[in-house]
Amino acid sequence: IKENALKAFSSAQNSQELYGFKVQYLGKSGSLTESMKLMATLPKEEKPLFGKMVNEIKTELEAAYEQAEASLKNKEIDAKMLSEKLDLSFSTAAKEQGKEHPIHKVTNEIFSIMARLGYSLRTGPLIEKDYYNFEALNIPPNHPARDMQDTFFVDESHVLRTHTSPIQIHSLENEKPPLRIIGTGPVFRCDSDISHLPNFHQIEGMCVDEKVSMSDLKGTISFFVREFFGPGLKTRFRPSFFPFTEPSAEVDCSCPICKGKGCSMCKQTGWIEIGGSGLINPKVFAHANVEYPKWQGFAFGFGVERMAIIKYGVDDIRHFPSNDVRFLKQF
Ligand code: PHE
Repeated sequence: IKENALKAFSSAQNSQELYGFKVQYLGKSGSLTESMKLMATLPKEEKPLFGKMVNEIKTELEAAYEQAEASLKNKEIDAKMLSEKLDLSFSTAAKEQGKEHPIHKVTNEIFSIMARLGYSLRTGPLIEKDYYNFEALNIPPNHPARDMQDTFFVDESHVLRTHTSPIQIHSLENEKPPLRIIGTGPVFRCDSDISHLPNFHQIEGMCVDEKVSMSDLKGTISFFVREFFGPGLKTRFRPSFFPFTEPSAEVDCSCPICKGKGCSMCKQTGWIEIGGSGLINPKVFAHANVEYPKWQGFAFGFGVERMAIIKYGVDDIRHFPSNDVRFLKQF
């Protein structure tokens, strides 16, 4: 038994096979264990000697098993390491690289242009009290101007901000004029088509100082538009209405998709509206306890996606939230 077992142990090719041999010889009904049964057939005086001999063989075989197991395990680990070795010279397909989102890029460009005019950055909450989104901006409850903005309501007194103009109020309440601020971030309106997204971005500018006029507004916006789009682009100011500015003007840029001839993006007008502007309505100053006419001001709010569309000739506003890397790569 001993010789057969030793031979088997040293012939085993892997630890599984070796374990099989262990069971065969040393297991509960293995041959060595079975041989103990022979003891009953022996004369009394031979029994202790026989028992001693079987136990010695058992100890010896267990040691041989452990040694064989250790060397097989080592070999198996070596083989595994060899098969899992990394070949660092192996070339793989190039990974797609992410890109900065055009909205982020455009927003940063706008900041740096406005920073040169002394404007600094402000933000505000996306969920606004009705007061900041409407009332303080001279849009009282039930005023028809509320229909201009398709509002998402959170509850009776809170809305998802429909524009960045509430940032004007936060700044007027918390800071002392003179002020030159630029606010930005997402805004929300219940509206979606080729040129409207329910979640888009605005950039808001506000200047409050002594003696601010419509010509300051036009000069600032014209400078900004020229710096952002380059000198070739046409802009126009159209008389308009916003409850929080008086007088008010809409700012349009010529449509780059059809070069002013008329297409679906510009609704056949040849112009794309980038936003509104105007002189701050004294009623807004009154809400925020800012002394008028000592302090006067202008404000504007532009759509960031619209500006990116015009600058880069994007033919559908819905590309922006798609995050398709083939689109993002082009900027
Ligand atoms: N808040 C206006 C809008 O979203 C734009 C605007 C901003 C108009 C500031 C005038 C002054 O349509």
